[in-house]
Amino acid sequence: MSESLNADWWREAVIYQIYPRAFADADGNTIGDLKGITSRIPYLKALGIDAVWLSPFYPSELADGGYDVADFRDVDPKLGTLEDFDEMAAGLHAAGIKVVVDIVPNHSSNKHKWFQEALAAPKGSPERERYIFRDGVGPNHDQPPTDWRASFGGNTWEPVGDGQFYFHTFAPEQPDWNWDNPEVRADYLKTLKFWADRGVDGFRVDVANSMAKDLSEPLPTAAELEKIEIGPNHPLYDRDELDVIYHEWRALFNSYDPPRFAVGEVWIENKERLARYATKEMLGQVFNFDLLRADFRASEFKQIVSEHLAVAKKSGSSTTWVLSNHDVPRHATRYGLPLTTPGEPFDGPAPTWDLGRKWLLSRGTDPVEDVELGLRRALAGTAFILALPGSTYLYNGEELGLREVADIPDDQRQDPTFFRSPGYDVGRDGCRVPLPWTPDGPSFGFGPAGANLPQPAWFADYAVSVEEGAMGSPLEWYRQALALRKQLLGAERGELEWIDSPADTLHFRRGDWQCFTNFGMSPVPIPSGEVLLASGHLTGEVPGATTVWLRG
Ligand code: GLC
Repeated sequence: MSESLNADWWREAVIYQIYPRAFADADGNTIGDLKGITSRIPYLKALGIDAVWLSPFYPSELADGGYDVADFRDVDPKLGTLEDFDEMAAGLHAAGIKVVVDIVPNHSSNKHKWFQEALAAPKGSPERERYIFRDGVGPNHDQPPTDWRASFGGNTWEPVGDGQFYFHTFAPEQPDWNWDNPEVRADYLKTLKFWADRGVDGFRVDVANSMAKDLSEPLPTAAELEKIEIGPNHPLYDRDELDVIYHEWRALFNSYDPPRFAVGEVWIENKERLARYATKEMLGQVFNFDLLRADFRASEFKQIVSEHLAVAKKSGSSTTWVLSNHDVPRHATRYGLPLTTPGEPFDGPAPTWDLGRKWLLSRGTDPVEDVELGLRRALAGTAFILALPGSTYLYNGEELGLREVADIPDDQRQDPTFFRSPGYDVGRDGCRVPLPWTPDGPSFGFGPAGANLPQPAWFADYAVSVEEGAMGSPLEWYRQALALRKQLLGAERGELEWIDSPADTLHFRRGDWQCFTNFGMSPVPIPSGEVLLASGHLTGEVPGATTVWLRG
């Protein structure tokens, strides 16, 4: 198929997220790098994915795991060079794998050249206009303009020592850009072009709903801000001015053949508003994080699937399914924690998500993780999403059945959430621990030296070389499932049709491909059809926490 005919490759793709620092370290500086990724292309090819998405690999002081970018058009020397990038991209393309890179448009690092210039320049200067500077309040101008709280804790305003403060949605090392400034807009177009010209196939857009802001005076208090609905009238999130920005981006993407793909990271609840990011005039696709926050329960899964298929229909895009990423506890762990009792009111809309976070606060001791059940549910959940219409995003290591690492010593933690909570919320390091490739050796084969976060002894059991070729291992199962999915998608697939099924189960078909998941604990009869794949051992019935694919 020619490239142009394949412009829609992303609609039903399996996209594998690589967290570069945790994937493979070739140069032995304990930080995963681009050459490490290149060396593992055979592994990625054997896995059967369609694309990789690389979390940021740009120059960074790592105040937020690389999401604090000091130069958007270069590679962090700790991770390699632009030549290493080209070599990696060429190798991936030769293996039939597309390359998606992360674009971080809301903020830069405080080490970015333009921010350094802003600090050195006086109040009211064009250099400061590229970011969001405001005078401090109070008689000495030493109080922040508002009492708003930043995402990782603390105030959103940081003083610079001359009576002014700058705004940061996230850590103080991540100053927000002023998107009203044409220079900022032009510079992002330059960045997108830079990577698109280098052959990247697409972009994952970080916090894609937050660049446009209205910070005109008087600013609301934190309490008032909280009451404003996210959307056109919110000063910070999901404003309509984003449309203009993304229309410009889309025009650039469409100037390539095939058009460059983009998917937005948008955490908003309003589905109508969410659909807007996925339209073909905007980014083209948007993440759907609802399953990632749901309990492993048939009713919740069904509602989310139905809602998001409707959203996709509205936008004309395809939806996305995600169970794990670099920001949340791994799903093999979340699913090993107790579910809320049906009907019982729970604290917040996201039970296993909240529970996963609470569990992390206890350093993984309370409640006790059911490792076996967690893995069973994780594979069943993955088989379920792989059968749905849309794209599936996998997070590196989930194919090994990897669990969250909860007991990282406090003095080795890196996530700003930990430092700014302070010391209370342990944050996201537990899903960013370097991957085990071998059961022994330095850093379990991650690299010739150590790992940048401590790997627990139990990683040995999850090593790639242990699982490779081992019947029934998560890795072999993922390979089988991905290969089969590709084959099954080869046939014309109509829309998803739900089939009535017993309580605590879900059953749907797409053409003659059926997917049946038993979310409960008791076995249920296997539906009729030819069994193609099962996420666990079938016993003449479908045991609890198991998915089966059937033909017929
Ligand atoms: C996104 C990223 C997260 C990062 C934040 C700030 O939510 O996924 O890892 O900390 O943006 O860039």
